[in-house]
Amino acid sequence: MSGRAPLRLAMVGGGPGSFIGPVHRMAAELDGRIRLAAGVFSRDPEKNARAAADWGVAPDRVYPDHHAMIAAERARPDGVDLVSVVTPNHLHFDVSAAALRGGLHVISDKPATLNLAQAVDLADIVAASGKLYGLTYTYTGYPMVREAREIVARGDLGAVRKVVVEYSQGWLSRPLEREDNKQASWRSDPSQSGVGGCIGDIGVHAFNIAEFITGKRVERLCADVAAVVPGRHLDDDCNVLLRFEGGARGVLVASQISAGARNGLKISVYGETGGLTWGHEDPNVLTLDWLDGPSQVLHAGSAYLGAGARAVTRLPTGHPEGFIEAFANIYRDFADAIEGRDAGFVPDIGAGVRGMTFVERAVAASRDDAGWVSLQGEGR
Ligand SMILES: NC(=O)c1ccc[n+]([C@@H]2O[C@H](COP(=O)([O-])OP(=O)(O)OC[C@H]3O[C@@H](n4cnc5c(N)ncnc54)[C@H](O)[C@@H]3O)[C@@H](O)[C@H]2O)c1
Repeated sequence: MSGRAPLRLAMVGGGPGSFIGPVHRMAAELDGRIRLAAGVFSRDPEKNARAAADWGVAPDRVYPDHHAMIAAERARPDGVDLVSVVTPNHLHFDVSAAALRGGLHVISDKPATLNLAQAVDLADIVAASGKLYGLTYTYTGYPMVREAREIVARGDLGAVRKVVVEYSQGWLSRPLEREDNKQASWRSDPSQSGVGGCIGDIGVHAFNIAEFITGKRVERLCADVAAVVPGRHLDDDCNVLLRFEGGARGVLVASQISAGARNGLKISVYGETGGLTWGHEDPNVLTLDWLDGPSQVLHAGSAYLGAGARAVTRLPTGHPEGFIEAFANIYRDFADAIEGRDAGFVPDIGAGVRGMTFVERAVAASRDDAGWVSLQGEGR
C-alpha cells in the first residue's frame, strides 16, 4: 500500500448497460489505490445520474460533458488526479487531449484514437503536458503474459522465429448492428469506430500482445481485411502476415465472425529450441514445449515464476484470477507511475501510435491489394 490517500479518478463513459466502464471502475478500485470521485458516464442525464448514484459519486460531481467536468474539477481543492476514457473510439482523442491540457493524467481504453493522425497529435500533447498517459491493453496485465515476455527476453527459447496470434470471437456473425445492439452499432460505424472494425476492436490487442511478448516490433505486414457479413460497413475478419525486426515471421488472425468462438485470444511464440503458448480462456497457465525435452505447464501464483509475474498475482496458485485483476494490474502500475514509483508495464502513447499505425496500414493495404507494406515511420 502507498500509505497515501487514494488517487481520485473521473470516468468518461461507462454508463448503465455499457461493457468496459464497470470493469474499469472495479479494477481501478481493487487495490484501494484509486477511488472513483467524478464522471460523465452517459450523454443521457438520467443514466448519468443513475450511474453516479450506483457507484457512490456525489451528485455535484456528475457533469453533462467532459469540458465542464475538467473545468470544475480543476477548481476544487479535492479535484480529480486522473481521467479514464471508456467511451466509443471517436471521443478518445478529444477527452484525452482536454484532460491532459487540463493538467490531469489519462488512462484510456484502446484504440488510442479514431485515426493515426490523432494518435500522433496526442503523442505531442502527452509530451507537452508533463502528465502521464496509459492505455489499457488489458492482456499485458496478466501474470502469465508477463512471464512469457520474461522467458523470451531471457533467451530460453533461443532466437524467436515464428509467432502465431489469434483473436477469434463469434458475436458479430449476425448483423447485430441492425438489431439495436448498441455495442455492435458503434463498432460498425466508421464515424465512431474509425477505419477499422474488428481490426481496431480486437486486432490491436493481438498486435500489441505479439510485440509485448516478443519484445520485437513488427516491421512489415501483408493484410487481408474484409467484411464478411453482407452490408456491414467495417471489417469483421482479418488475416495478416507479419514480419518482425530480426527476421521472425508471424501470422495474426482477428475475427468477430468465427461463429461459436467466445473471446479466443491465443498466442504461440516459437524460438530455435522451443515454444510457448498462452490463451486468454485459461489465463493462469503458460505452456512450454521443447524440441528435445518434455513439455512444461507453468501456473500463476507459483514461487518458481519470475518477479514480473509474481508482482501482479494477488492469490496463491490454484486460486484463479482473471480479466478484472489484469485490468487492475494496469491501474496499479499506473498509480505507481503517478506516485513516482516504477511504472511497471503500462502501455503508453507509443503503443497507441503503434496500434493505430497497424490498423490504418493493414486496412489500406488490404483495400489496395498492396501486398507487403511497411509499418515504419510512426515509431515512438
Ligand atoms: N480493453 C478491453 O479489453 C476493451 C474491451 C471492451 C471495450 N474496449 C474499448 O472501450 C471503449 C468502450 O467500449 P464498450 O464496449 O464499453 O462500449 P459501450 O457501448 O458498452 O459503452 C460506451 C459508453 O460510453 C458512453 N458514452 C457515449 N458517448 C458519451 C459521451 N459523449 N460522454 C460520456 N459518455 C458517453 C455510453 O453511454 C456508454 O455508457 C471502446 O473504445 C472499446 O474499444 C476495450
